[in-house]
Amino acid sequence: SGFEFISTSVNDQVGSIILNRPKVLNALNRKMVSEIVVAMETFDQNEDVRVILVTGEGRAFAAGADIDEMAEDGSIDFELLNQFAEWDRIALVKKPIICAVQGFALGGGFELVLACDMVLAAEDAEFGFPEVNIGVMPGAGGTQRLTKLLGRTQALQYLWTGDRITAKEAEAKGIINKLISPELLKDEAEKFAKRLSKQAPLSLRMIKESVNKAVDYSLYEGMQFERKNFYLLFSSEDQKEGMNAFIEKRRPKFKGK
Ligand code: HXC
Repeated sequence: SGFEFISTSVNDQVGSIILNRPKVLNALNRKMVSEIVVAMETFDQNEDVRVILVTGEGRAFAAGADIDEMAEDGSIDFELLNQFAEWDRIALVKKPIICAVQGFALGGGFELVLACDMVLAAEDAEFGFPEVNIGVMPGAGGTQRLTKLLGRTQALQYLWTGDRITAKEAEAKGIINKLISPELLKDEAEKFAKRLSKQAPLSLRMIKESVNKAVDYSLYEGMQFERKNFYLLFSSEDQKEGMNAFIEKRRPKFKGK
């Protein structure tokens, strides 16, 4: 696939992205983040892919941004590199992005998790923002997304202390969707992604767009938006296929059109 720090493949309509720097716990250097975003965008445009699955090679999902790479940087380096513009593009990906987390998902690794749509985690997964311990803070959405998820007081607790959130706690707090034993994580994640890939792709797409509006819009505006997407699906072949299949008591075959 021509990538240096990730590997990608397509299997049964699932596009897989594997973070692949296990020796440094998949620390996210800038090129690696570029590769992740390009891989997501490429899958988003690939007709053979309906769901994107992100996993990490080795004992961690990702232990954060690459500290070695940024240790000597100044503010102006960051301003000129504008690296977070790349992270912003993840939110523009239309297809479902599922991630499967084992071991550490820290700092930028946790931010990547929070930028995904659904999260499956092994029982040994640990999430957290340790930036405070090294004199910085999250920069790729961590303070915003964690606060929207947990509320202000809990977000401050984790961001100020740097304490890690265990997989069990993460499940209780709604940070993750499902806890899975480490041996089964990969299989279960693939199974789940494959299951989603059988759903009407345009429904998945319009639902994702509408749900994301609930975060930014007022209820009224969000409902107007939802309604337009509902109307839009009635222009699709899959709506006719889905409803006819129901009436004819057979399984629908969705085309994503
Ligand atoms: C560079 C890292 C790294 C990182 C781990 N490594 N995390 N290298 N950047 N974020 C490297 C280690 O240096 C080590 O390399 C190897 O991975 C294995 O890690 P160990 O520390 O030996 O493993 P362990 O003792 O199990 O401890 C795991 C750990 C610890 C608790 C996750 O590695 C750790 O605290 N990492 C840093 C976590 C962090 O602060 N993340 C936030 C970064 S700031 P060698 O060569 O020694 O074997 C950030 C800002 C986000 O993410 C901004 C937006 C992008």
